[in-house]
Amino acid sequence: MAEFTLPANSKIYEGKTHKAVIKAKNPKKIKIYRYDPDSSENPHIDTFEIDRDDCGPMVLDAIIKIKNEQDSSLTFRRSCREGICGSCAMNIDGTNTLACTKALDDISGDVKIYPLPHMKVVKDLVPDMQHFYAQYASIEPWLKSDTKAPSTGERLQSQEDRKKIDGLYECILCACCSTSCPSYWWNGDKYLGPAVLLQAYRWLIDTRDEARGERLDQLEDPFKLYRCHTIMNCTTTCPKGLNPAKAIAGVKKMLVERKGI
Ligand code: SF4
Ligand code: SF4
Ligand code: FES
Repeated sequence: MAEFTLPANSKIYEGKTHKAVIKAKNPKKIKIYRYDPDSSENPHIDTFEIDRDDCGPMVLDAIIKIKNEQDSSLTFRRSCREGICGSCAMNIDGTNTLACTKALDDISGDVKIYPLPHMKVVKDLVPDMQHFYAQYASIEPWLKSDTKAPSTGERLQSQEDRKKIDGLYECILCACCSTSCPSYWWNGDKYLGPAVLLQAYRWLIDTRDEARGERLDQLEDPFKLYRCHTIMNCTTTCPKGLNPAKAIAGVKKMLVERKGI
């Protein structure tokens, strides 16, 4: 039987418990992963008690309240508070999702919050997104065209062509899908992962783009694309209801079609 020894600093222990500031009438426990690179302490799970009757409806409301009232060192990202910026992505109740659109009432029992899995942690709930963004930049996510734009300034599309990017342009690059993908966990250094491949397909299918051949050449690679084994975690977890697995299948289909198989 294989045996694994975890590095000493990877063991997570039970941290502090913070009671609600005023005695809670309707208490709820929020258990949060804590890690501070400036301390020699191992990561730990702190427990915060909040009063549901004195807190907004979403998980993000709870962690903002905790930061304001109980522990100002709690670190997380957020901006829009309405599922648009993608910055509050974290693992809540075992699923990667957005803290600002996840309702506290949808979670029975204690709320368990961790950073997105299999990413380096900068601090607490903040993952290091540098590699993810570099992979996004690698697909050159902008319109490429040698044809001069019409004098009116806009490149028009038919309604049918415009519809082809529905279900793709809505992606907010939160990385919930990529960090739920087992193939990305093991091969994330070379496999582009569902979010970036969905974005790649967004440009491949756009009828205004003239670089399809060049884009497909870049993706035709056993690691960049073909590490997807259609496990579908990505589609199950996407908080925007998108289907990265279908987009990846679309890229593979384009490659088959251009070979004429
Ligand atoms: S496809 Fe969905 S889960 Fe993946 S990055 Fe885009 S919005 Fe986030
Ligand atoms: S379908 Fe592909 S990209 Fe999505 S989780 Fe599975 S292996 Fe990852
Ligand atoms: S704060 Fe912008 S998506 Fe949650």
